[in-house]
Amino acid sequence: MIYDFTYCNPTRIHFGRKAMDKLPEELANYGKNILLVYGKNSIKKNGIYDTVMRMLHEGGKNVVELPGINSNPRYTQVLEGARLVRENAVDLILAVGGGSVVDCSKGISAAAYCEGDPWQRYWVNQEPVTNKVVPVASVLTMTGTASEMNGGSVITNEAEKLKLGRVFPLELMSPKFSILNPEFTYTVPKHQMVSGIFDIFSHLMEQYFSGDDDCTSDYLLEAVMLSLINASRKALVNPQDYEARSNIMWCATMGLNKILALSKTQDWEVHMIEHQLGAYTDCPHGIGLAIISPSYYRLIYKYGLPKFVRYARNIWHVNKPGLSDEQIALEGINRLEAFIAELGIPQTLREVGATEEMLPLIAESTIKGGGYHVVNTDEVLQVLKNCF
Ligand code: NZQ
Ligand code: ZN
Repeated sequence: MIYDFTYCNPTRIHFGRKAMDKLPEELANYGKNILLVYGKNSIKKNGIYDTVMRMLHEGGKNVVELPGINSNPRYTQVLEGARLVRENAVDLILAVGGGSVVDCSKGISAAAYCEGDPWQRYWVNQEPVTNKVVPVASVLTMTGTASEMNGGSVITNEAEKLKLGRVFPLELMSPKFSILNPEFTYTVPKHQMVSGIFDIFSHLMEQYFSGDDDCTSDYLLEAVMLSLINASRKALVNPQDYEARSNIMWCATMGLNKILALSKTQDWEVHMIEHQLGAYTDCPHGIGLAIISPSYYRLIYKYGLPKFVRYARNIWHVNKPGLSDEQIALEGINRLEAFIAELGIPQTLREVGATEEMLPLIAESTIKGGGYHVVNTDEVLQVLKNCF
């Protein structure tokens, strides 16, 4: 079924080598008090911190800093940022980093003026946000999540061993502007680059593997998957290939700014399983997705066979004559697995620190859903065991 939709995304994107030149004019639209949120130390090493600070000071801003945001940002960091926002009457939260920093900034924005417990209200109960929020903007340094142009905020509550995603409305929480310079991603270590690449690929597949309508979104998703495979292969050979890094960056933004999902159903179960894997192991998000995906798709392909056949043919060019539909579908999943190996991503949960004892706990705490098939705890456990 093709669904009706309304779409409005307020993020202004500045893309390219000179994108940062736009930061001063963007900053001029906001008040004096800026909360600068960033990660551990990458932006200090590669000089982005100095550039941003110079522009903030030249713009006459008062800067409060929240450094040290973890990969898989913690709820305690959201609370710390919320306190800083209130105490300093912050006018703009500027996130400089990858998806974790941007997600955390949105969490801070929602939590700062929330009455009651923000974790319970906004991540567990998924209540609508009615309190004041503070505008968020980003300078992106690592690509994959599309947090730079969506309302997502995935937060890990260590005390509760839960990693929960919240998708705030785009109009409310999508960054007001995002600076995307592909050159900023050159210093991302290879294991993080491929993690980001697979995160993008997974977003595309999870929007694709549901519904069998003749749907424009599915054709668009195929096109972005093909572009991503092509660009990734080039970036593996030469990480400083501007064209390749820029295509990857734009595939990422397009991959989850919600345009490609319009009008269709989706299946986000791989993400649901990975989030709990992340809560237990703290593994890089895209690496976890890559380990789980072949195992998950081997479980569900039978329920959506025509789409898996289409995927095998259109994405992986499985054209060998004489194969049954089932063989074609399975060959498509084999090629996906081969692509993951080509990216140099580990293929077992052991390699990211999972233990056998963790598997039932992860399976139990995973939010269950699906597209062609709705999974239960035993099936999630089987998926995990098959890639352990
Ligand atoms: O902390 P620093 O020192 O900055 O290092 C970071 C971090 O270790 C490093 N890095 C970033 N830019 C760099 C760089 N290193 C060198 N040079 C640079 N230019 O990369 C590491 C990973 O960064 P992180 O932000 O954690 O990665 P990513 O962008 O993959 O974000 C992952 C988080 O986003 C969530 C994930 O679950 C995870 O928590 N997601 C958010 C989504 C959304 N908002 O819609 C959807 C996604 O599906 C995802 O769940
Ligand atoms: Zn993701």
